[in-house]
Amino acid sequence: MPASPCPRITKSYFVVNAAHIIAVKRDGHELTSQQIAWFIGGFSRGDIPHYQMSALAMAIYLQGMSAAETTALTMEMLASGVTLRWDKSAASYVDKHSTGGVGDKISLVLTPLLACCGLRAPMISGRGLGATGGTLDKLESIPGFRTNLRLEELQRQTDSVGCVITGATDELAPADRKLYALRDVTATVASIPLITASIMSKKLAEGLDVLVLDVKFGSGAFMKRLEDARQLANAMVAVGASMGVKTSALLTDMNQPLGRFAGNAVEVNESVEVLSGGGPPDVRELTLALGAELLVSSGMASATPEAYRQLTKHLDNGDAIAKFREMVRAQGGDFDAARNVAPPQVVKSRNAGYVSHIDTEQLGMAVVELGGGRKKVGDAIDHSVGVEMLVRHGDRVCIGEPLVNILAPPQAARQWEEIIGKAFTVSDSRPEPLSLVAERIG
Ligand code: URA
Repeated sequence: MPASPCPRITKSYFVVNAAHIIAVKRDGHELTSQQIAWFIGGFSRGDIPHYQMSALAMAIYLQGMSAAETTALTMEMLASGVTLRWDKSAASYVDKHSTGGVGDKISLVLTPLLACCGLRAPMISGRGLGATGGTLDKLESIPGFRTNLRLEELQRQTDSVGCVITGATDELAPADRKLYALRDVTATVASIPLITASIMSKKLAEGLDVLVLDVKFGSGAFMKRLEDARQLANAMVAVGASMGVKTSALLTDMNQPLGRFAGNAVEVNESVEVLSGGGPPDVRELTLALGAELLVSSGMASATPEAYRQLTKHLDNGDAIAKFREMVRAQGGDFDAARNVAPPQVVKSRNAGYVSHIDTEQLGMAVVELGGGRKKVGDAIDHSVGVEMLVRHGDRVCIGEPLVNILAPPQAARQWEEIIGKAFTVSDSRPEPLSLVAERIG
């Protein structure tokens, strides 16, 4: 049955129906921005039923979209909700988005660090998806920490503290939430234009001046291949630029967990170490690389070395951890309350040689299975579980040498020992070293 045309679109040639638009895309033709606006507007209002939206999503999945179509789709999803407005006279508003990885705790470190550098960072973040952890889940291991701020609270805190990390509200890009639920059950998540529109509509709703994207590739990432990550990054950077937001992307390696720990409380603890000037070198390195993109693009630093100087100063002189404490307090959290961590159970190598491959997705899934993530919406999270990496890619190990600690109640840890051990491949030859930041796109 034809859906009723959007009242805003009155020209007669737009008297088309949803089935016609689906057929245009199915047959590999480009949609006009008016057709996309008409369709997404109708879906948001409930005039176009979910089965027609699902059919269009599948047509997009199979046929792809041009840059112009992807921008139009993003704009319409953005227009389904509100866009935050800021008084930009005092500061630039910036954010970072990661496509998700195992042990990826960069948001916890970078957001307060940016505030220390004079930027405002209104970060709207998400929960775990598949094997990748969620920033909100990690922060909720701090007793009392609120991740459901109202928009007014988010805006007030951004301007008073300089930073906030909270979840999306129903007012921001609601079409994305409706469409994502359909994509999830119609095998249409892994589509570059659909992912681009989904991520960018939510980020653009923050009303930013500058955005940096951390697009991950490798065994623990959504995109396994560098080429796919590059394509996604190019699409997102193009959409950001066409909407007037300075956008750049780093393609970063996710062939091993980022840092030493993956889980929830353990990742908060590790972030606290980095915020206090210590912590694992890879977490610090990626924080600085992403932060430098934002400082230079926003004009807070004249060039990358100056940006690194500012960022390292605030990590090393206590400012960054103080700002994190301030953000936690503003969101109702008790930074000093105990964050329980489950006891360690070591998994040892059965072979001698070099750690040549780490099935990072498997490690992430193990954390989910231990209770550190959700298998279905609404599952409770055990913030105390996780894994602790005792080796890195390329390390030499002997038989019986520890590879990883499983942080979980002993019975659960024993159940996962075999599978977690198999995530590590130990070979005779030394593997090529991994490069954390493989490419920049901007
Ligand atoms: N994350 C999102 O927000 N949207 C997608 O489509 C995929 C990952």
